[in-house]
Amino acid sequence: MSDKPLVAVTRVIPQAGMDLVNEHFDVRLWEDELPPSPEELAKLLHGAVGALTLLTDTIDGEVLDREPQLRVVSNFAVGYDNVDVPAATERGVIVCNTPGVLTETTAEFAFALLMAAARRIVEGVDYVRAGKWQTWGPTLLMGQDVGGATLGIVGFGRIGQALAKMASGFDMKILAYDTYKNEEAASEAGATYVELDELLHQSDFVSLHVALTEETHHLIGADELKAMKSTAVLINAARGPVVDTDALVAALKDGEIFAAALDVTEPEPLPADHPLVSLPNAIVVPHIASASVSTRNKMAALAANNLVAGLNGDRPEGLVNSDVFDRARRQGVSAKWL
Ligand code: DGY
Repeated sequence: MSDKPLVAVTRVIPQAGMDLVNEHFDVRLWEDELPPSPEELAKLLHGAVGALTLLTDTIDGEVLDREPQLRVVSNFAVGYDNVDVPAATERGVIVCNTPGVLTETTAEFAFALLMAAARRIVEGVDYVRAGKWQTWGPTLLMGQDVGGATLGIVGFGRIGQALAKMASGFDMKILAYDTYKNEEAASEAGATYVELDELLHQSDFVSLHVALTEETHHLIGADELKAMKSTAVLINAARGPVVDTDALVAALKDGEIFAAALDVTEPEPLPADHPLVSLPNAIVVPHIASASVSTRNKMAALAANNLVAGLNGDRPEGLVNSDVFDRARRQGVSAKWL
C-alpha cells in the first residue's frame, strides 16, 4: 500500500503530466480512449482526495457529495463548464483550469479555420480526391478574401485578443464584443468594442471565443445568423452550445451565411450522419484547437501542477475559485496532503 494520497486521473494525458502525478500521488487512472460513464467516474473518484478531469467529465454537486474527501478538481482545459464551480465552492473544493498555455495555439487554429472556410480548402481537397479536377476553371471554388476584411471577435479574452493580433497581420479591421471591456487590451490589439448586433452586421468573419455559461448558451441563433452578411463566415473554437446547431444548419442550407468552420459542436461528438458533416459549406473538426504536441504537454504539466499545489495547501497557478483557497487560508485549514 502506498502512503501517497490517492487521486483519480480520468484519461491518459501527455507524459509531462503523467510523470508529475505519478511522482506525487497514488494514481487511479482511467486508461480507455473513451471517457468513463457517470457510474464509472463515480467508482474512479471513490476515496480520492484529488481528481484530474477532462471536459467530458461532469463534476456536479451530486458527484462531490458522494466524495466529501475530494479537495481539488483540476480540469485539463481552460474551459470548465463541465464542473459546477458554485457547487464546488460551496463544498470547499478547489477547482483549477489551464489558462495561458493554450492561448496562441487555439487562436492560430481559429485563424486556420477562418482561412480554410474563406478559401474553400476542404472543398478543394475533396474535389481533387473525388477525381473531379479536369481543368483550371475561371469560377471554380471561388471564396472570400481575408486580407482587409472585418473580423468580429465575440469574447475578447486571452484567445480573442491573440486572434486579433494575428489578424492584424492581414490588415483586418477588428471588432470585438464582450460584456467585460478591457480598453487597454482592445487598443493594443487594434480592436474596437461594439454591440453584438453591430458586430454581426458588419463582420465578414465572426469568431467565437466566449466561455459557455447560461448567458452564452445559443448566443448565436436564427436571428443572429440572419443578422450576418450572406458572404460571412462563422468560426467556433469555443464551445458547441454557444451556437444553435439547427439554426446554423438552416442558415448554411439557405445561404444566409457563406460558411461555418467549427472546432466544437453541439452535440459533441457530432455523429457522421449529422447534416453539418455533409454540408459543403461547413468544416467540422473534432475539438482539436489546442492540440499541438507542445501545448498539450504544457496543459498536462499545468493540470498536474495545479493538483500538486492544491493538495499541498499552495495556491495553484490555474485556480478558478480563489474564494475557497482564501477562505481556507484565513481559517488556517488549507489542504496539506503532501
Ligand atoms: C479548453 O481548454 O477548454 C479546450 O476546449 C480544449 O483545449
